[in-house]
Amino acid sequence: MNKNIVCIGAGYIGGPTMAVIAKMNPDRKVIVVDINKDRIAAWNSADYSLPIYEPGLVDVVKEVRGKNLFFSTDIEGAVKECDIVFVGVNTPTKMFGRGAGRASDLQYWEKTARSIKEYAQGSKIVVEKSTLPVRTAAAMDAILNHDADRKFTVLSNPEFLAEGTAIKDLLEPDRVLIGGPQDEAGLKAIAEVVDIYATWVPREKILTTNVWSAELTKLAANAFLAQRVSSINAIAGLCEATGADVDEVARVIGADRRIGPKFLKAGPGFGGSCFKKDVLNLVYLCESFGLHTAAEYWMSVIKMNDHQQERIVTRLLEAMFNTLANKKIALFGFAFKADTGDTRETPAGTVARLLAEEHVRVAITDPKALDNARRDLSGLKGIEYEPDEYAAAEGADAIVLMTDWCHYPALDWIRIYGVMRKPALVYDTRNCLDAVTLRKIGFKVLNVGK
Ligand code: NAD
Ligand code: UGA
Repeated sequence: MNKNIVCIGAGYIGGPTMAVIAKMNPDRKVIVVDINKDRIAAWNSADYSLPIYEPGLVDVVKEVRGKNLFFSTDIEGAVKECDIVFVGVNTPTKMFGRGAGRASDLQYWEKTARSIKEYAQGSKIVVEKSTLPVRTAAAMDAILNHDADRKFTVLSNPEFLAEGTAIKDLLEPDRVLIGGPQDEAGLKAIAEVVDIYATWVPREKILTTNVWSAELTKLAANAFLAQRVSSINAIAGLCEATGADVDEVARVIGADRRIGPKFLKAGPGFGGSCFKKDVLNLVYLCESFGLHTAAEYWMSVIKMNDHQQERIVTRLLEAMFNTLANKKIALFGFAFKADTGDTRETPAGTVARLLAEEHVRVAITDPKALDNARRDLSGLKGIEYEPDEYAAAEGADAIVLMTDWCHYPALDWIRIYGVMRKPALVYDTRNCLDAVTLRKIGFKVLNVGK
C-alpha cells in the first residue's frame, strides 16, 4: 500500500510541491500542515484565493483539494497518520548571535524536528525539503533517534523549482535529487521517495546521492545561478562605460554550448528569498571550515548584487541633474521577478528605500505585489501604491521599470509620455521595452549594460 505523506510548512515550497505530488499520486493521501492559521484558511478558501500566486497552481489545487490533498493546522494528527514526513519550513538568514547575517536560522527547523519526535508513532521517513546547511540531517537524526532504535530515516530532497514557473518546473523537472544514508535502511527509504516522483518523472532524471552531497548540491546550485547573474551584471557596467551592448554580449557568450544561454540576463540584480540567503549560508560554511578564500569568492557575488541595485539610483541621479528631491519617480513592478507576487529581497525594495532617502515621491505599481509592497515598506514616508500604471505615471519625472511583467511593453507609452513631467525619463532595468520607439515618442531612455 502506498504510504501517506505529510508536509510541514504550507509556503511557496510546501503548497505547490505537495499539490503536484498529490495530483500525480492519486492513491496517496497528502496533508499539508502549518502553524499559520491564516495561510491554511487561504489554502482551504472556497473561492481559491490561495496565499501565493503561481501560474497554474489554482487549477492543480482545484483538481485535488478535498480528494487526496488536504490543508490543516492539525500537525499532531497529520504526523500520526502519515509515514513520510516532508519538512518545508522557512530557513531564513540568522539575524542574531553567532553567524548573524550569514548562517541559517534553524529554530523553525529544530522545532519541527521536535514536533515530529513528539507526535510520531512508529517509524517514519523524514525528508528535508527546505534548503539547509550541510550536515543538518545529522542534527535532525540526533533529535529524532536519540532514544530509539533508528525509528526515523532522514533524507534530503531539496527543491529546485523557481517561482513564477513552479508548476511547470515541478511537472517537468531537469532533475529530482534524493540523498540519504548509504546503509540498508537509508537505501530503502530513498527507494520509497523515488517511487513518489517516478509516477511522472523519468527514472533517469531522479538522481540519488549521499545525504551530505544532496544538502550541499542545493546550496551550490543556487550559488552557481546567482554567480552567473552577478557575472553578467559586472559585464553590464563595463558595457555602459565602453559602448558595448550587454544583451549582444550575453547572446554570443550563451551560444557557446559549454556556457549556455540561461541566467545571462543583466538586470537590477537578483532578488527572491533564496539566492542571497543560500550564498550567505555557503559563505558561512566556508568560513566555519577555515576556507576563507572560498568564502570571499562567494561573498563577492553578493557584493556585486548590492552594487548593482545601488547603481540604479546613482545613474538616476546623474541623469536627473544630480537632485531627486521632491521629484516623482514611478516604479513599474515591485515583485522580484515577473509572474509572482513575492517581494522577498526584491531589488525594487532597495531602490524604493534609497529613493525615499533622496526625498523622492515614489509611486509603486505592480499587478500582483502591491499588498506585499505596502507591508514591506510600511513606515516609509512618501510612497504611493497605485494599481493603475497610467495613474502611477501621472506627473512623474521618471519611470523605473523594475520587474519584467509581460504586459509592460504593450502599455500605451504615448499616453504615459503625455501624463509625465518633462523631460520624461524611462530607466528600463530589465531591457524589455523598445527603446527606439520610446525615444521617438520623446522619452530619454536608460538601460542596463547599454
Ligand atoms: P515560506 O515562508 O513561504 O513557508 C514556510 C512555512 O513554514 C510558513 O508558512 C511557516 O508558517 C511554516 N512553519 C514554520 N515553522 C513551522 C512549524 N514549526 N510547524 C509548521 N509550520 C511551520 O517559505 P518557502 O519559500 O516555502 O521556503 C521554505 C524552504 O524551501 C526554505 O528553506 C527555502 O530555502 C526552500 N526553497 C524555497 C523555494 C521557493 O521558491 N520559495 C525554492 C526552493 C527551496
Ligand atoms: C531560484 C532558482 O532558480 C531555483 O532553482 C531555486 O529552487 C530557487 O531559487 C530557490 O531555492 O528558492 P527563484 O529565486 O524563484 O529561483 O527565481 P529565479 O528565476 O532563479 O530568479 C532569481 C532572481 O534572479 C530574480 O530576481 C531574477 O530576476 C534574477 N535573474 C535571473 C536575473 O537577473 N537574470 C537572469 O538571467 C536570471
